[in-house]
Amino acid sequence: MSEFKNIKVDYFGDALVDINGKAYKIHNCINGEDILVDDTFKYPILEKVLKASPNRIYDGCPYQAKCGGCNFMHISYDYELELKKAYLNNLFKSFKIPEIEIISTFQPNNYRNKSQMTYKLSKQRNVVCGFYEEYTHKVVTVKECMLQAKQSNKVIEELNKILSKHKITPYDEKRGNGIIRHVFVRYGFNTKELMLIIVTNGEMFPGRNNVIQDLLKLDLNIKTIVQNINSRNTSIVLGEKNKILYGSGFIYETVGNYKFKISPNSFFQVNSLGMKKLYDLAIKQANIKNTDIVLDAYCGVGTIAIFASKFAKEVIGVELNKQAIKDAVINAKINNINNITFIADDATNYITHQAKERKKIDVLIIDPPRDGSTKQFINAVGFLKPRTIIYVSCEPTTLKRDLYQFIDNDYEIKSITGVDMFSRTKHIECVIRLDLQQPKK
Ligand SMILES: C[S@@+](CC[C@H](N)C(=O)[O-])C[C@H]1O[C@@H](n2cnc3c(N)ncnc32)[C@H](O)[C@@H]1O
Repeated sequence: MSEFKNIKVDYFGDALVDINGKAYKIHNCINGEDILVDDTFKYPILEKVLKASPNRIYDGCPYQAKCGGCNFMHISYDYELELKKAYLNNLFKSFKIPEIEIISTFQPNNYRNKSQMTYKLSKQRNVVCGFYEEYTHKVVTVKECMLQAKQSNKVIEELNKILSKHKITPYDEKRGNGIIRHVFVRYGFNTKELMLIIVTNGEMFPGRNNVIQDLLKLDLNIKTIVQNINSRNTSIVLGEKNKILYGSGFIYETVGNYKFKISPNSFFQVNSLGMKKLYDLAIKQANIKNTDIVLDAYCGVGTIAIFASKFAKEVIGVELNKQAIKDAVINAKINNINNITFIADDATNYITHQAKERKKIDVLIIDPPRDGSTKQFINAVGFLKPRTIIYVSCEPTTLKRDLYQFIDNDYEIKSITGVDMFSRTKHIECVIRLDLQQPKK
């Protein structure tokens, strides 16, 4: 055991300590605390807090030390928001912008509408599931995840009992045998609809009719059950092939006044409550006029495009995932929207062609994956010169890189706002408004 006094902690709750000349990150710490570290592990962990900060809470997740999925289960939500605000203001301090504020969702627990867990056989030979321990492929059994919707936790608990009852074995990575790899649940907080996806290692799923029958006896509003086949040696949960075992293969969720169809593999924001706040903010900042042509790049199932359609003359949505685009077309239809076109294409490819043809775009909204956008995409935007850009980002570091690129293309950052879409984790969503600079006379 090693003792450390008055520790210095980063924005993500990690203290950097020196043990025998080697630096280690100790999670779940708070600035100024005295701690005891168990250094018998390959990656030492916090054993005990000797002098606690007043910001420490004690009703956080019992699995936090092992699971590693959350960074902030040990502090109050107010302090978490304070840390996230300080992180963003420090990261973007080189930009001349007003102070960055964080919009809270006021529901730090049980907010995730998407849950995914991995299976293993317990020592008592029961089918259990959980999350990978940090740095390993060892599954930490988690009975109830404090981030997931309570309904998702419930259906997973019942599924595990049913799998154990019918002796359907989890897939064993080392031996390469067994059936069930993961469970994936989507829950519509507003529609109360549940989609249950059972990920198997191959097409074979013996006993599946018994499993379905038992699941449907439960009073959990399971709208659809899907078998997803993933035989690849990967940590990505879903494979490409889906077999519908019950229902339609999709669920609906409503956000504000709109209804959305969600398929197993399509992207959908994980925080239903935060999503409305995020989109309202993005649309307000875009200041769209009824003569405007709006491009929503990386549009997913068309959610932001649909929110924008009410204010614009015309909206175009571009997205790589063909199934998401099919859903987006249906989403426009079920919401009676006639001024949107959805295109399945790589966003960079699409915008480069638009730039060559000198197409008119007045407002650009982009919401790329964690890696951010591409240099080629941003340079093409420089040719098209939309009046305003709204950049929605879930990764501040790639966002910062892209913002410099937009500045090089004559854009000025007007504001950055954080939206706490991923409470209890270090992740944070940002909405940025950029305006085209007027040419200097
Ligand atoms: C962060 S999500 C945003 C989706 C949508 N705006 C929303 O709020 O639901 C990013 C989306 O970009 C898509 N995507 C990833 N790479 C892409 C690319 N090269 N071109 C176009 N879309 C891409 C993903 O499939 C995903 O739907």
